[in-house]
Amino acid sequence: MKDLIGDLDFIEPSTANEQQPALTKKDGSRKLYIESYGCQMNFSDSEIVASILSKEGFETTQRIEEADIVFLNTCSIREKAEQTVRNRLQHINGLKRQKPELLVGVLGCMAERLKSRFLEEERIVDLVAGPDAYRDLPALIGQVDEGQKAVNTFLSREETYADISPVRLNSNGVTAFVSIMRGCDNMCSFCVVPFTRGRERSRSPYTIVEEARQLFQQGYREVTLLGQNVDSYKWSPQENNKARLEKAGHSETVNFAELLEMVARVHPDLRVRFSTSHPKDITEQVLETMARYENICKYIHLPAQSGSTTVLDRMNRGYSREWYLYKVEAIRRILGEECGLSSDIITGFCGETEEEHFDTLSLMDKVEFDFSYMFMYSERPGTPAEKKFRDDVDPEVKKRRLEEIIRRQSIHSLGRNQRDVGKTFRVLIEGESKRSADFLQGRNSANKVVVFPRGNNGKGEYVNVLIEDCTGATLIGKTV
Ligand code: SAH
Ligand code: SF4
Ligand code: F3S
Repeated sequence: MKDLIGDLDFIEPSTANEQQPALTKKDGSRKLYIESYGCQMNFSDSEIVASILSKEGFETTQRIEEADIVFLNTCSIREKAEQTVRNRLQHINGLKRQKPELLVGVLGCMAERLKSRFLEEERIVDLVAGPDAYRDLPALIGQVDEGQKAVNTFLSREETYADISPVRLNSNGVTAFVSIMRGCDNMCSFCVVPFTRGRERSRSPYTIVEEARQLFQQGYREVTLLGQNVDSYKWSPQENNKARLEKAGHSETVNFAELLEMVARVHPDLRVRFSTSHPKDITEQVLETMARYENICKYIHLPAQSGSTTVLDRMNRGYSREWYLYKVEAIRRILGEECGLSSDIITGFCGETEEEHFDTLSLMDKVEFDFSYMFMYSERPGTPAEKKFRDDVDPEVKKRRLEEIIRRQSIHSLGRNQRDVGKTFRVLIEGESKRSADFLQGRNSANKVVVFPRGNNGKGEYVNVLIEDCTGATLIGKTV
């Protein structure tokens, strides 16, 4: 795989101009500013975008005021996510008035959902590119330079950007995301992702392992493997390059458990995390692989969405309350009580009764998640739920149920953290604590944030920390 990060160092403005006269400014490279919204997948995609454009001589900047190109990598998951982007565009409109040549592009899920309609709805947008169209960005920018608006929202069945080494943006130099698949084939009735990200496809395991190896060499000590449903990762060599792969000994079909093992073997000091697991698909083979490798972190994000089987049916999640609890039991049996477990929960889904809501609260009591992301249901245009059901839970009721769920989660988070007081954990240091430069912070295997006095330690090192105190969000201790 080509190392783009290395290439970047070599691009001088003048040579960049010679390579791409149409795309770069006469007086130096054009500056690109990317802002990302939504899930980790989007943040990871922005790094792919930065990589593709760095090849063309574009330089990324963290300061919007000095940018020649502003990209918003957008999210459509809830109405509010889209509203945030529209508000942001209003602000950027102000910048564009002062700098009319500023190129404004919308990428990601909202671009995919709205397609060329975006250009009509938001006049300041020059360019719209969906998640599978990023290789086309140089051409699209060229089109805008010639005075046209540019749109590409083609969804691919194959694109995985497998050969692209992402340019790490806003990186702490210790932890990195590695995308292992794209799209989603589950049709959870509330969810817009299958429409904005297209069909599920898995990236070649060999390029994944290579990316992890390079990250380790550059000093990174943790990778998070990303996919909407990592448990359905499945890769097999395609007919057209089967012969070449067989020659290199790469002819086997690889499932998620096998991929995990391949990445875990890159180096014992490279931690491996992954997200998101799906309750209907997670296998004991995955759990057993986690148990076998010390460097595969003992933490699973396993979104329940609801604790009620009837709601789960309407959501088309493909499992029942009992099935979910059975999976949690398997996790605790194979990985022990200390394995971190978190969830996503939606309140006020179509037709949700008070009894069904209590089922969610009681599921939470049974599992005691370390952490949850909790949301009010937000109807998304074009989804199966929008077509089949009425969004009939009163907003006030949704909100009250959300508050009840948040309160319950805070109790569980604190309780789970209190159980860690007195224990010693191996912590990977990610940097200074947000509160004080005298303290460092990192995470333990179970994904809990651990804060401790700096001492002689630094970023990227592993230390053992004895936990002496906690809040609902943080463990506090000292190195031993
Ligand atoms: N692939 C992951 C989730 C991706 S979206 C999974 O299957 O779990 C992240 C979370 O957003 C979802 O888990 C869900 O809790 C929430 N979400 C998705 N659509 C939503 C909607 N229409 N309204 C409210 N929350 C939603
Ligand atoms: Fe959406 Fe369901 Fe796919 Fe997750 S698994 S992205 S919730 S459709
Ligand atoms: Fe949002 Fe798209 Fe991710 S809708 S949550 S950015 S896949």
